[in-house]
Amino acid sequence: MSLDPDWIDFIKWALPQLRLRWAGFRKVSDQVQRRLYRRLQALDLTGPGAYRDYLRQYPGEWQVLDTLCRITISRFYRDQGVYALLAGQIMPDLAQQATRDRQAQLRIWSAGCASGEEPYSLSILWTLQLEQRFPDVALAILASDVDRHLLGRARRACYPWSSLKDLPTAWLEVAFTESTAGYCLKDRFRPPVLLVEHDVRTPAPATSLHLILCRNLVYTYYERDLQQEITARLHAALRPGGILVLGSHETLPAGVTGFTPLPDRHWIYTKALTRSH
Ligand SMILES: C[S@@+](CC[C@H](N)C(=O)[O-])C[C@H]1O[C@@H](n2cnc3c(N)ncnc32)[C@H](O)[C@@H]1O
Repeated sequence: MSLDPDWIDFIKWALPQLRLRWAGFRKVSDQVQRRLYRRLQALDLTGPGAYRDYLRQYPGEWQVLDTLCRITISRFYRDQGVYALLAGQIMPDLAQQATRDRQAQLRIWSAGCASGEEPYSLSILWTLQLEQRFPDVALAILASDVDRHLLGRARRACYPWSSLKDLPTAWLEVAFTESTAGYCLKDRFRPPVLLVEHDVRTPAPATSLHLILCRNLVYTYYERDLQQEITARLHAALRPGGILVLGSHETLPAGVTGFTPLPDRHWIYTKALTRSH
C-alpha cells in the first residue's frame, strides 16, 4: 500500500500531540493508515482534512486515535539472541542474586506484553532450562498491556503457527498442544505469568523487580521526553543491580543516568547500585 502524502502530513501533525514520534512510525505507517481509513469510513468523513476538523471539534477522538496508533506485532522468542543471553547469563545471575538475598521470587515485568508471547517465552525458558538449578526461587512475571483484546488472547494462550516459528522445535513440542484453536500453551507454563491491564505511561505496576523487558514500544514509538519520564519510572521499579532489556534496535535516550549498558549489547542495561547526578 503506497502512502498518501496527505495522510503522511496528517500523521506527522497528529503524532507529536500524542507524544509519539514519526521516526518510529515510518516503517509501519501503512498499517496505521489502513486503520485511519476504516475510522474515517465509520465516521463518514472524506479525508485527513476532515478528520483534523473532527479532532478539533471532538477532543475525545484523540483517545481513539491513540489506540489506532498502537503497533501490536509480537511473537514467541522474538530476537532469539536475547533469549539466549537471558537463559545463559542474565536470568541465572539474577536468580543467584535472589538466592543470595534470600528472596523467594525472581521478579520480572514484561511491559507491553501483547498476547503473552514474551512472558510465556520466559516461562517456558525458565521451566525447561533453569528451574531445577534454582529450587528455592520461584518465577513471578507481571505481564502488562494496555490492550484488553490482546490480554484476552493471552489468557486463552492459543496461537497460530506464525507466532511460534522462532521457538526452538523441542520447546514447541513440550510446551504446546495442537488443537483446532491453534497451538495452546500447556497449563504448567501459565502460573508464573500474571496478566494485567496497564498503560506504560502511568506509574509502574510493581517494584523491587529483578528484570524488566520493555521492547519495541517506548523506545521506538514515543517522543524523547516521554521516554525519559518512563525510563525514570522503570529505574525506580528495578532493584539495584536489576536489568532493563529494550528491543535490539533501541537505546535509552541521551541524558539518562543510573543505567549502564552491557558491553557489546547497548540495548541491555544494568541499574547502577547508586545513581549519579
Ligand atoms: C510492537 S508490540 C511489542 C510486544 C512485545 N514487547 C515484543 O517486543 O514482541 C507493542 C505492544 O505494546 C502495547 N502498547 C501500546 N501502547 C501501550 C501503552 N501505552 N501501555 C502499555 N502497552 C502498550 C501494544 O498493545 C502491543 O501489545
